[in-house]
Amino acid sequence: MSDESRHSPAQMLPHTRANTRTAVVIPAAGRGVRLGPGAPKALRALGGTPMLIHAVRAMAASRRVSLVVVVAPPDGAAEVKSLLDAHALPEWTDFLVVPGGESRQESVRLGLDALPPEYDIVLVHDAARPLVPVDTVDTVIEAVREGAPAVVPALPLADTVKQVEPAAVPGEPEPVVATPERARLRAVQTPQGFDRETLVRAHGTVTENVTDDASMVEQLGLSVVVVPGHEEAFKVTRPLDLVLAEAVLARRRLNDGF
Ligand code: C5P
Repeated sequence: MSDESRHSPAQMLPHTRANTRTAVVIPAAGRGVRLGPGAPKALRALGGTPMLIHAVRAMAASRRVSLVVVVAPPDGAAEVKSLLDAHALPEWTDFLVVPGGESRQESVRLGLDALPPEYDIVLVHDAARPLVPVDTVDTVIEAVREGAPAVVPALPLADTVKQVEPAAVPGEPEPVVATPERARLRAVQTPQGFDRETLVRAHGTVTENVTDDASMVEQLGLSVVVVPGHEEAFKVTRPLDLVLAEAVLARRRLNDGF
């Protein structure tokens, strides 16, 4: 090794990752029952285009993303593959479709298993967040490149949050146990970004069910950092969220027209 390469800027910052390649895993195998009956949530149309296609485009919009792995419903991989083939997607990104599992966590793990070895940064993004802006994606990738093992985009809360003793019967009054200080709380979104090795280790170690990938990294005792999220990165969960998503799309189309 020459003296120059030994003292290149990247090597003087030991925790900075240079020459990285980034892949995204999109778990899209859920049925989305809270949205009501009908097609699996990821295949519901938004502005005439399936939510999953919006989510894939949102990830591929980043020049730093070179592979998107879509985790499809176990019996729907062929359908998802033809859906991707039928929609225009950026040429700088490759796409893979793999069948998912019983839980979100299992679906993410199956997506990780399909990653070729050359990717060292992995983002995990819910198909149910179709409208995340590219700036948020880039902010997450940048923070992992800077050396954080796990990065989550998040927003401060508008509502005060109460911790309760959940009622046995839904709708019954629930005793309040605590009121966490709102200023210290954040609502987390996706894409969450990871050093690949860290996320693979987390998925191999943590077996209990969790609602986000970063919490598995926390359980390994590693640090997770929060970067600013975006209000348009909201999760489409209930019927009202579909109305909001349509409104955001309509506003974007209007703005693009000017
Ligand atoms: O149900 P929830 O909204 O939390 O799902 C979050 C994401 O995980 C969705 O994109 C859903 O499609 C995905 N998922 C999955 N495999 C499952 C369950 C959920 O990929 N078995």
